[in-house]
Amino acid sequence: MRKKQTYEVTFEDLTHDARGVCKIDGYPVFVKHALKGEKALIEITKRYKSYGLGRLIRLQEMSPFRKEPICEHFATCGGCNLMHMDYQTQLDFKTFKTQSTLKKLGQINTDVTPTLGMHHPLYYRNKATFHLDIEDGQIRAGYYREGTHRVVDIIRCHTLPKIFSEILAEIRTAAEEKLFDVHAKSRPNGGLKRVVIRQSYSTKELLITLVVHQNKTFKSKALIDRLIKKFPLIMGVILNVNPKSFGLGEKSTIIYGVDQIKETVGGMHYSINHQSFFQVNAIQAETMLAQIIEKADLKGDEVVIDAYAGVGHIGLSLAKHAREVIAIETVKKAVNEGLKAARYNHIENIRFITKDAKEGILDVPEADLLIVDPPRKGLHRDFIDRVLDKHVPKMIYVSCNVATLARDLKFLESGGYNIVETTPLDMFPQTSHIESITLLQRTRLS
Ligand SMILES: C[S@@+](CC[C@H](N)C(=O)[O-])C[C@H]1O[C@@H](n2cnc3c(N)ncnc32)[C@H](O)[C@@H]1O
Repeated sequence: MRKKQTYEVTFEDLTHDARGVCKIDGYPVFVKHALKGEKALIEITKRYKSYGLGRLIRLQEMSPFRKEPICEHFATCGGCNLMHMDYQTQLDFKTFKTQSTLKKLGQINTDVTPTLGMHHPLYYRNKATFHLDIEDGQIRAGYYREGTHRVVDIIRCHTLPKIFSEILAEIRTAAEEKLFDVHAKSRPNGGLKRVVIRQSYSTKELLITLVVHQNKTFKSKALIDRLIKKFPLIMGVILNVNPKSFGLGEKSTIIYGVDQIKETVGGMHYSINHQSFFQVNAIQAETMLAQIIEKADLKGDEVVIDAYAGVGHIGLSLAKHAREVIAIETVKKAVNEGLKAARYNHIENIRFITKDAKEGILDVPEADLLIVDPPRKGLHRDFIDRVLDKHVPKMIYVSCNVATLARDLKFLESGGYNIVETTPLDMFPQTSHIESITLLQRTRLS
C-alpha cells in the first residue's frame, strides 16, 4: 500500500477522536469525517508502521446517522469534528467511548448511563479566542487551522453566540479600514494579534480583551468607539501585552469600562474578570452541578472536600447542603476568586487550602465526601494513596479525560472503592471531548 493510492473501503469503527476506521489487508487506516458502516473511496495520505491516515474522496454508501454540517468552515477549521453526526449519534458515541475506554484501559465494568446532552447543542460557548494575521496582504481573523498556526477566517462559528461572530466581523472591517494596526506573524509589530471575547450567559454582558505583541504603538480608541457604539453590552475592554503566540500575558490595562461581568450558575452569583477561570458552557455547568448534588445526596451534616477546586464552583454549590466544604487548589488567583465568590454569595462554611492536592489532603483530618475534578492528566498517584489511607466513604470523580479516569479508577477500585456509575456529560457538543461524573463508594479498606 502506497501514499496517494486509492481504495474502496467500509468503515468498521470510530477512533476516540471520531475518525472512521477501515482496514486494508488488515492494516488500519483512519479517515476524518467518515462514519461507522459507510462505504467510501479514500486516498492514503500517510503511512506509519502500525496504521495509516486517509482522506475521503467520495462517499458511496452513507450512514443514516450522517447529518449535513451547518458550518461553512467545517472542512477547514477542524474544531467541530462531530458536526457530521446527528446529535443523538454524537451522544451515543460518547457513551460508547466512555464505556469502552473504561473497560479497555481500566478493566472497569461499571454502569455507564446515557450521555447528558443539551436541548440546543449549538451557540453554547461563553468564551472564544480569535487570532489575527496578515497573509499575502489580506487580513485574516479567526481560529488556527487544526495543528497549525495559520489563521482560518471565521465568518460564523456555530458553537458561539451569534454576537461573537458579529463582533469579530466588526473588528475585521475596522482592521480593513485601517482603524488600528494588525500584527502580522511574518512582520511582527505592535498591532493586534488576538481578541478574547467573554459573555455572561445569564446577563449577556460582554468583556473584550485585545492582546497585542507590545503596546508601545497600539492605538485602540477608534476600534473601541466603534465596538461600544454597536455592542452596548460591552462592559469593559482590556489591553493585554503578550509576545508569545498563545494565552494572555501578565500585563493588562483596562482601556474602557470595568474588568467585570456578572454571571449566575447553579444559583451562585459570580463576578468574572478577563482572566477568571470559568466553565465555558454555563448551561452544562448547571447540569453538571445538578448531577453532582444528586450523586452526593448530602443530608446537611457532612464534611466535603472539593479537590482540584478551581474557583470552587462545585464546593460553593454544595455548601448549602453540607456542614463544611474544604476546597483544595494550587493556583492562588483561583483561590482568591473562590473566596470572593463565597463572600459575594454569603457562604461562610467553605474554606480554601492553597496547596497541591496531594499535600492539601493531609491537612483535612476526616471527610464524608471527596470530590475531585483534576486536569486532563488525572490524579497524582501519591494523592490516590493518601485518599486510600483516609477512608472517605464516598467519592465523586469529575473527569475531562476518560483515559486517565480509567487508570485512576483502577487504582481506586483495587484500593477498596466500588465504582457505582459513570455519567458522561456533553460539555462541548459537536466535538469529541467527553466530560464525565463517576460515583464511588468505599466498600472495604485497602
Ligand atoms: C478541571 S479544573 C477544575 C475546575 C473546578 N472544579 C471548577 O469547576 O471550576 C482543574 C483544577 O485543578 C487545579 N490543579 C491542577 N493541578 C493541581 C494539583 N496538583 N493540586 C491542586 N489543584 C490542581 C487547576 O489549577 C484547575 O483549577
